[in-house]
Amino acid sequence: MCGIVGYIGRREAYPIIINGLKRLEYRGYDSAGIVLSTPKGFELVKTKGKVSDLEEKSTSIDQTPTIGIGHTRWATHGVPNDVNSHPHLSNNGRIVLVHNGIIENYESIKKLLIEKGYTFQSDTDTEVLVNFIQLFQEEQNLNLRDAVRLALNEVVGAYAIAVLDNQDPDTIVVARLGSPLAIGIGKDEFFIASDASPFIEFTKDAIYLEDGDMASIRLGEEVAIHTIHNNEPVSLDIQELQLNIEAIEKGGYEHFMLKEIYEQPRSIRDTMRGRLLVDEGIIKMAGIWDNQERFLKAKRIIIVACGTSYHAGLVAEYMIEDFARIPVEVEYASEFRYRNPIIKKNDVVIAISQSGETADTLAALKLAKEKGAFIFGINNVVGSSIARITDAGAYTHAGPEIGVASTKAFTAQLTILSLIALKLGKKNGELSNEKYNLLTRELDRIPELVEKILIDCEGKIEAIAEKYKDNRNAIYLGRGYNYPSALEGALKLKEISYIHAEGYPAAEMKHGPIALLDENMPVIVIATKRGYYEKVVSNIQEIKSRSARIIAVVNEGDEQVIAMADDHIFIPETAEEFTPILAAIPLQLLSYWIAVKLGKNVDQPRNLAKSVTVE
Ligand code: AGP
Ligand code: GLU
Repeated sequence: MCGIVGYIGRREAYPIIINGLKRLEYRGYDSAGIVLSTPKGFELVKTKGKVSDLEEKSTSIDQTPTIGIGHTRWATHGVPNDVNSHPHLSNNGRIVLVHNGIIENYESIKKLLIEKGYTFQSDTDTEVLVNFIQLFQEEQNLNLRDAVRLALNEVVGAYAIAVLDNQDPDTIVVARLGSPLAIGIGKDEFFIASDASPFIEFTKDAIYLEDGDMASIRLGEEVAIHTIHNNEPVSLDIQELQLNIEAIEKGGYEHFMLKEIYEQPRSIRDTMRGRLLVDEGIIKMAGIWDNQERFLKAKRIIIVACGTSYHAGLVAEYMIEDFARIPVEVEYASEFRYRNPIIKKNDVVIAISQSGETADTLAALKLAKEKGAFIFGINNVVGSSIARITDAGAYTHAGPEIGVASTKAFTAQLTILSLIALKLGKKNGELSNEKYNLLTRELDRIPELVEKILIDCEGKIEAIAEKYKDNRNAIYLGRGYNYPSALEGALKLKEISYIHAEGYPAAEMKHGPIALLDENMPVIVIATKRGYYEKVVSNIQEIKSRSARIIAVVNEGDEQVIAMADDHIFIPETAEEFTPILAAIPLQLLSYWIAVKLGKNVDQPRNLAKSVTVE
């Protein structure tokens, strides 16, 4: 999990790489480094810290070269410090490499290299790989490409790498297995990056390297792609990028997270656009339509995902079972892949992932594919690894999500899952026409309702955040469709404000967590009118009797709950099934404002990264 950027062309590589790394910092941000290739050798700087620290440290180097590679790290092997930062140099100083991923068999390779006299400065798996490439290059007198290829054939693990050789300074060699890598093709210049955002203003033409492929990129020549395994040529698939520069900038907001929260009326609308034709009563989704037999004949749907995407999956479970009466199981991808799950040929496995790169989700899908299940992806990042290996899928059109805490991607996932559930229910006749029409009309109103919440909450949630920001714990409660909302609210608070928070089904309180309640424990309860309202009211009474402080998310016009709550936030009434979309908004804002007031790094919380490409 990290960001890689590279450039080879006629311009100065330094600013392109630095700006590119800043755009990729969401992927990892504990250290950063850059190496530029000059006729006299490498100019290399690396440091613990952020790309801005790297810039400060780079004043001493020659910034004019036109070839270079850079890295922003999320450490897996070795603590974040200057030495463990990338790029890593080979012992002979000839090869330099940046790496995203994990070399799982690095210890045995390291042992072999030490026996041959190699020495190591860092604790990383990456430094082992660069020296392993040196070994092949020296022992067999190979060019860089061939040495990289042979070394990678011995490697177990996941990687996207970019490599330079100072004896062949006009070439960058890249390769991928499990971690993403894109090549931007300009006129007389090439860019490489973990996603296309670093080069979007320079070119719209890009190649997404496939797993198991490597490329040799030389100035004045066409990119040459081969398979790593047996060196077979691969034809070039140049795609036109849809991304634009505004979508990846902050647009006047203080943080990406806030911008992304406020984008939700639009991102939900974009996710429905062209799919929900409410007046005709039609939901158009090619991925489902073209494979309706697989879905309708499915004995079972299994949803695999991690983190926030897993929470979206839990809502989908309730919805698909309710509307279409197809049994659904939702699993953490990391558990599913290792527990020898029962997967049958007539199962449909749906992976939900914003990034489309989450290693555990990808591996769970591969397992399901091997067992013959039909695999379907719900992804936000177009062209991502999951999107490419699935049999079919549907993109959430939320646009790039840069803040590490997922916000608009979550509500877009809920939107598309609602469309899928409605479509399946309608198609197999389990959902009455009346209910279908009612729900599609209601779903169509959701962007408007989200907009209203954002306007109504202005200032209000910030004030609530001020009151509760110094608490070290919090409990989130919800029932039915809002049980996943409680889990998601708690995750949001934990990840950006570092306050310990737990989400529970409200009725579970009395089975243990209630012991935690006292006047220092804030309890955030989702108590909307439709679905279990009276039951939640009883749960709130139980909480109140233990003197805990209550922040209630309620419908406009509520009197019963607000009379008991210390603070409340209104959301409009909607169909029970769609309340998780609305309830997400104030919970996102509450976490955001608490984190801001605590002075935390909202967009890049400690220890996290946006796409988790390691298991
Ligand atoms: C969300 O706020 C988290 N940062 C994280 O849990 C995330 O949802 C998880 O890593 C899954 O990512 P994905 O959707 O890209 O697969
Ligand atoms: N495994 C490498 C390291 O720990 C790369 C991690 C990354 O993907 O950033 O340095």
